[in-house]
Amino acid sequence: MVRSILWRLIGCLCFWWSLGLALFFISFGVNRIEKAVQNSANPERILSNQRPDRNTDAEFQDSVQTMENTGMGQSAAVQVSENSSIRAEKTITAKVALTFDDGPHPVYTPQLLDGLNERGVHATFFVVGKNILGNEALLKRMETEGHLIGNHTYSHVKLSELDIARACAEVEKTNALICEVTGKEPEFIRPPFGEWKKAMECSFEMIPVLWDVDPLDWTTKNTALVVERVLKDTKPGDIILLHDYYQSSVDAALGIVDALTERGYKFVTVDELILE
Ligand code: NI
Repeated sequence: MVRSILWRLIGCLCFWWSLGLALFFISFGVNRIEKAVQNSANPERILSNQRPDRNTDAEFQDSVQTMENTGMGQSAAVQVSENSSIRAEKTITAKVALTFDDGPHPVYTPQLLDGLNERGVHATFFVVGKNILGNEALLKRMETEGHLIGNHTYSHVKLSELDIARACAEVEKTNALICEVTGKEPEFIRPPFGEWKKAMECSFEMIPVLWDVDPLDWTTKNTALVVERVLKDTKPGDIILLHDYYQSSVDAALGIVDALTERGYKFVTVDELILE
């Protein structure tokens, strides 16, 4: 009698224990499946998990607001708003554009080109017209190695402070020099100081390209600090501003390429970010 009760009790305990274990595994499995579905529906989640301090959408909206508030001009605003859908796509593919202003420099630009070439990375160079003189071979090299060349005015001027004729001449003269060397008319301009002359009535149209990440490399000239700032601020779809005019910036640029490549970023020229 006692024995049969004991067996029943053991049988009963085994049943409930097995049921509990089965329920635990079922709920664990459902949880995993839910997470997998969420991640595949939103790849940004994976990236934001790595960098929980970032909020791509909110920051992008902020940057649009800032540009509109600072009166960057209609063309810049249009460019950015056209970018919004493109940026969403970039978020998935994690593309980023490195841009270099103020060159070409006879010493630092070749070093940078060597480093980019070794890594199979293409960048965008916004060149100063007067710096092309004597450095034509470097400009040609940028072109043949797959980089994009843009205009940064002839003498690095604030276009917004010039009258229309002088502002147009600054841009046009540089376009002519670039075209002479590469055979291609540049389509993109980075206005020095981000000052684009609103509604420039020139004989040509250009697409102004500003930036998202500015480590102020020309003020610090500290390689480690520049790398640190860029790695902290960069998110998918961003345009990074650097200058191929300092040793520290060239070293930082190559460090940035290595670190961001490791994080899964792909480097593209700005036309791929803006016009795609
Ligand atoms: Ni500049």
